[in-house]
Formats: sequence, structure tokens, C-alpha cells
Amino acid sequence: MNQPALAAHVAQAPEHPAYVTNAKLRRWVAEVVRLTKPDRIYWCDGSKPEYDRLCNEMVASGMLIRLNPEKRPNSFLARSDPDDVARMEERTFVCSRDKEDAGPNNNWEPPLEMKATLNKLFDGCMRGRTLYVIPYSMGPLGSHIAHIGVELTDSPYVVVSMRVMTRIGRKVLEVLGPNGYFVPCLHSVGMPLAPGQKDVPWPSNRQHKYIVHFPEDKSIWSFGSGYGGNALLGKKCFALRIASVMAREQGWLAEHMLILGIQPPKGRKHYIAAAFPSACGKTNLAMLIPPKALKGWKVTTIGEDIAWIKPGKDGRLYAINPEAGAFGVAPGTSDQTNRNCMAALKRDTIFTNVALTPDGDVWWEGMTRKPPKKLIDWQGRPWTPDSGRKAAHPNARFTVHLSQIPSLDPEWENPDGVPISAFLFGGRRSTTVPLATEAFNWTHGVYLAATMASETTAAIVGKVGVVRRDPFAMLPFCGYHFGDYFKHWLNAGRGIQHPPRIFGVNWFRLDKNGKFMWPGFGENMRVLKWIVERCEGKAGAGQTPLGWMPRFEDLDWKGLKGMTRERFEELMSIDTGLWANELKEHSELFDKLKSRLPRELALQREMFELSL
Ligand code: OXD
Ligand code: MN
Repeated sequence: MNQPALAAHVAQAPEHPAYVTNAKLRRWVAEVVRLTKPDRIYWCDGSKPEYDRLCNEMVASGMLIRLNPEKRPNSFLARSDPDDVARMEERTFVCSRDKEDAGPNNNWEPPLEMKATLNKLFDGCMRGRTLYVIPYSMGPLGSHIAHIGVELTDSPYVVVSMRVMTRIGRKVLEVLGPNGYFVPCLHSVGMPLAPGQKDVPWPSNRQHKYIVHFPEDKSIWSFGSGYGGNALLGKKCFALRIASVMAREQGWLAEHMLILGIQPPKGRKHYIAAAFPSACGKTNLAMLIPPKALKGWKVTTIGEDIAWIKPGKDGRLYAINPEAGAFGVAPGTSDQTNRNCMAALKRDTIFTNVALTPDGDVWWEGMTRKPPKKLIDWQGRPWTPDSGRKAAHPNARFTVHLSQIPSLDPEWENPDGVPISAFLFGGRRSTTVPLATEAFNWTHGVYLAATMASETTAAIVGKVGVVRRDPFAMLPFCGYHFGDYFKHWLNAGRGIQHPPRIFGVNWFRLDKNGKFMWPGFGENMRVLKWIVERCEGKAGAGQTPLGWMPRFEDLDWKGLKGMTRERFEELMSIDTGLWANELKEHSELFDKLKSRLPRELALQREMFELSL
């Protein structure tokens, strides 16, 4: 905080405090300062006073609104530009040297051309602004599974969000030391200020947006957006796209997975890592409260979005959550759907694009059954229930530290991670896919995950409600060719003594009247219980062409009304016509990846077709 304001792009000005010993970091910051020409440089120490001060400054500048301290202590609302409300997959690039390495699953441009474009855009882009240096750790500080990144940004909203979502500041530089490795992450909202020019509440660049990854350099450049995964570069950009490349090179896994603990009434606790595409209820599953009738079963939370997984010495896979916070979708979150999350959001939360109540609190669709009579919507306009539009943006978010979640697992910061008993893969499918299946073996499980699909939601810009193949829920996040990624997964299971079992789930199947056939939320515990019991060799299942599936008698129905054997059978039914079409789509996916598709997966497909 005692750092003077510097006209740092003036050549003689010091670009770093004396305690910054890492030569590569010093050089890089100096280079970026020369390119982006900020008015000031600020090295974040990661302290609470620093966080409070930045929040106060943003309240003064209009970027944040302080919520009523009696209703939501230490909480804020940000409203983004209507043009900057979600991840932009069309503007996201993986620029490997060889196009083929990025695969058909990524947008690609030659790295030198992309760097030329970016150098032009970044030239002078921080004029009139402060460049913040955020050293951060993905994972518990010093954990052998964790890695360090440094984000340079001109957005104070990014700084405070990164303090919630990761571990930031001086303590990270201590771990980094003079020679430590870090991933350089450069971010700008792309809106320089001329002398005297007044800032807007949400600066961004409407014309140019680029979220670019260089997998060989392991560097990230993001320009023009201040929102979520486009701007908090530790999350999707580092912890998934770049980390997936590092994981392949180094023999581990970086996955779009929540991690939860399941404690049965007796016996040992199991940990499950589960992959779902965006906005399929990952946060709800990670914080699930079991139905009372399943006495003694307890669920705990390690993470709700990303898992880094490494083989342990005992032949099992161990996972950490590289993040320290949750950046979750607010609409649909309520005391009915996720009581743990609502409790976490009671204080110290940054909300983005939710609605504001007249008494200075927040609201979003689904929070209460009846909407308030009057609100200010996410764009700052007066709103009433008959306005005919949503009060909160469908991708409105909360940013909250994990320590505020009542169900947090005591092991959440264990630097060695937690042992994984099972992997779960699920999508949002209104037809075709049954409630639960277990793969016959690892290779079959990789096939199941590679061919999964989901109906798209508001978490990304584009069409909503379209079925798209989303292998491993990694379509927007895998930093290299999916064919190579599948091979890496096949190897990951073969290389260890006790690979986790692999399961597929679908909470979203509809009946003929368009009604959800499965109650979901806490009732998902019944499927989790079956999974844990399968891992322990205690639960039964029937063999089908899709894998092992629970029969009616294999699930615990205590306390659940309305699930008859007939309804369950409808929920589990395999429609061979729909599956024939599904297999066609598997073929189409495999065709796109054929130059690098592992042969095992093509064979699995053939065997599946023959068994249908
Ligand atoms: C997310 C996403 O925000 O997957 O977690 O889009
Ligand atoms: Mn996600």
C-alpha cells in the first residue's frame, strides 16, 4: 500500500519492490509495462486491508455497489457491460505452433501472427489505469500438486475476485523464490483512458475480445473482457487449458470436475470427482444435503469446478481443488436447491449481474418463489414482475470464498489431496441417457466420458438448449487435441494400480409431458450412495449394453414418494432408435478427431453398436 504512484513506463522508474527476487518475473513485468503503458503499477500483497481498500475505491468509482451491511455484510454488486456477460468461446484461442496440436476442439491461429495482433492491441492499452501484479497459487501454497501463476491486469475487480478465488500476494512470491516457475497471465479490459477521461462502471472493449493461450510458452493473454473466466485467468485459462497441457507433459490430470466427500454411516469416507458441462448443477451437487431418510450419510465439499489429480505412491489418484473460491451461477440457487450455498452467500460475497432490492440486498430468478414487487435489474433499470424480462442475467454470478461453505471438507487444503474412489460424468439430456450407469472397465469409462453430450445453457455466449458433444465436459477447456487427451486418459488409468471406477449420470431426463423424471438436488444422494456401495462391492446392478445399471431394488428409496418401479424403468429405459442416432453422433465426433483418435475408442464404439 505504501507504493508510490509511478509513471512506470518512463524508463527509469522501478517496476518492482525490492522483495521481488524472481528475475523472470521482474523482466516480464518490465516488458509488459513498456508495452501497455499504465499510469501506475501496484504489487498486490493479498491482505484484507488491501482488499477493503480496493473495494472502497471501486464503490467510489461506481464499479461496485455496496450492499446493505445489515442484510449482506461486506458484500458488493457489480454490473457488467451488457456485451460482456459470459465466457466467449468464439473468441478463445489455443495457439500451438502446429495447428494439429490444438485439435479441431480449439480455435487456432499461428502463434506469431496472434502475438503480432495482441502486441498491437496491448500497446498503450493501460494508459490512464493501474497495472496490478497478482502473484497467485492454484492449490494450497507449496503443495506438490499446486502451481503458481502471475496475473497482470488493469482491473481492480479482477484483483478482488482473484483474492477470493485463489491464494494471492506476498506469500506466493515467497514460495516462488528467485528461480521458481510461474505461468504469465496478461489481462487488460482494453479500454485506455485519455487524460481527464471519466471511466465507465464496467470498462471493456466492445470491438476486440481475445482470450489466447500459448501452450508451448505456457502463457495467457486476454484482452477486452472483464468477465469471469475471460478475466480471472487462474480459472479456466490456467487451471484447465494451460494446466491440461502441463498435466499431459508431466503425467497428471487437470479436469473440469467438482470434488466431494461421502461419509457413509459406518466405514470409510469416499471422495468422488465429477465432470459436468457448465451450469448443470455442479455447485449444487458439490454442496448436496442428503435427504433425512438416508440417515447418517454426509456429503462434504472440496471443490465445485476444477480438480487437479496426481497419482499417489499407494497406486491411487489424489485430487486437490486448485481454487479457493466459488464463481457460481446465481439464478436457480435457493434455500430449496442449495442451502449450503445460500448460507455461504450471507456475507463477504461479490455478486455480478444479479438484481438489487429496494433495501439494498440481492435477488435472482429462483431465489424465492414469489419475486419482490420492485427491483433494479442487472442493467440498473427499474423492474417489476410484469416487466417481461429477467431481473438477473441468466449467467449472473457470485464470487465467494470456500471457507464460507458450511459443508466444506476438513481436508480441503490438504496439500497431498484426497484419494478418488470414483469419477462421475454427466450432462443435461432431456432424452436418451438413463439416470445412472457404471462403465465395465477403464477403457469403457473413457469411451463413456469421451462421447458425453449436453444441452447448452447461458454460461456461454451462443445458442441455448442445443445438444452438443462435450467430451469429459472439457470441450471449451482442453488446451490440446482431444484425440491426444483421450489417449492421455487411457494411459492414466493403465498406469496405476487402483484406478477409480467410472460412472455416467443424467439428472435431467424428461417424461412425455415435459416433466423432470428425477427429483434431483438432495435426492441425487440415492445415486451417490449406490456409487459408493458399488465401490465397496456392496451394491447390485444389471448388465446392459450401456454398462452396469442399478435396478429398482439396487437403489435406496427410503422416504422418497412417487418413484414407482414403472417410473424408474422409464427413467432407465434404453431406446434403441435414439441410441442408434447417438452412435451416429459418436461416429461424427470420432471422425473429426480421427487423425489422433486412439484405436481403443473406435473399437469400443464398434462393440457397443454390436451389443445394442
Ligand atoms: C463455469 C463454466 O463458469 O464452466 O464454471 O462455465
Ligand atoms: Mn465450470
